[in-house]
Amino acid sequence: MDVHGSRSKEEICMHLGDDYDRYLGAIVPPIFQNSLFTRKTQDHGYSYTRASNPTIEIAERKIAALEEAEDARCFSSGMAAITAALMSVMEKDCHIVCPSNVYPPTKAFLESYMAKFGVETTFVSGESLAEFERALRPNTKAIYLETPLSNVFTLQDLRAIAALAKSRGITTIADNSWATPLYQNPIGCGIDIVVHSASKYMGGHSDIIAGVMVGTKARMEPVTHRERGMFGASMDPHQAWLLIRGLRTLPVRMRQHQESALRIAAFLEAHPLVDRVLYPGLPSHPQYELGRSQMSGYSGLIGFVPKGSREAIASFMKSLRLFQEGPSWGGFESLVNSPGLWLDEEASRRTGIPQGLLRVSIGLEHADSLIEDIDAALAGMKRA
Ligand SMILES: Cc1ncc(COP(=O)(O)O)c(C=O)c1O
Repeated sequence: MDVHGSRSKEEICMHLGDDYDRYLGAIVPPIFQNSLFTRKTQDHGYSYTRASNPTIEIAERKIAALEEAEDARCFSSGMAAITAALMSVMEKDCHIVCPSNVYPPTKAFLESYMAKFGVETTFVSGESLAEFERALRPNTKAIYLETPLSNVFTLQDLRAIAALAKSRGITTIADNSWATPLYQNPIGCGIDIVVHSASKYMGGHSDIIAGVMVGTKARMEPVTHRERGMFGASMDPHQAWLLIRGLRTLPVRMRQHQESALRIAAFLEAHPLVDRVLYPGLPSHPQYELGRSQMSGYSGLIGFVPKGSREAIASFMKSLRLFQEGPSWGGFESLVNSPGLWLDEEASRRTGIPQGLLRVSIGLEHADSLIEDIDAALAGMKRA
């Protein structure tokens, strides 16, 4: 479906919705940093920023077009968008199916929080269609996906799962934060709703927390006054302006993240002190062909397991010079964190997260410098 004409993604990121005539030719649209809009002299359709705001709408138009969707709604965080999307389809006592290694607060929302409203969730690995098929019940309302999963880097088959869900009248939701709309468009694969943590690549500068929900107009319109309006997790206009600024450079940043990450993943895979690399862009990834069939590129978040004791791996992390230690990803800066470092064997088996797993977010520093940094830290680890 091409609801936005034949614009390139670059053109959408840079120009769609900027409307120079409306804003006195300003090359950068203004921040409407106001809560209310009066209507005495003009009926412009705006009333209160919790419901709508011209700056926020620019971000929404761009992201809807990037996702090849009809409409989008911005939220104050990725989690606000995710919980709103789920709340928009769930009913009391319904059932949801979801990969078990989904972003942990999403899992906690389904597993513990929604349980108090009688909602049950079946968690699956997400790697086979048969698992989803087996998990379905007459009261299944939604299949929630996140592909690739941002901690174990496995994929779910968007087209096959969307077709299964459609045949049973079940709504599908996909978190597309890892691949971004530049490299994956779940709506085109038949998914109903896409959600993003725009705090990651879309914002790109580690200076905003933001979220977005994307889908058809019929699904998005009620969300304005229901899940977004009632819970009140609207985006702030300044946050929207920073998001728009981030989107302008998204294509060029993603090209660089991808180029550097592909080089670094290959370097890690060939390194004698690295046991495993988890990256959908490597031909050795078990779902490489599925990835190629539903993604047109790869972002900069990589998992790998160095060889060595926990202490040696912890010392490797500390001795990195260009990678700061931190849990987020998708910004200009390189980061490292350790989702599997302190897991014991039992926890690793239960969660599917390899013992010793580190996660690096490859930033925009020169790839040669990042490789040099990792190489030196790995050499230091050997001696530790
Ligand atoms: C895959 C994924 N989805 C959603 C979120 C939540 O987004 P936010 O932090 O913007 O609420 C995150 C945050 O790290 C994430 O990694």
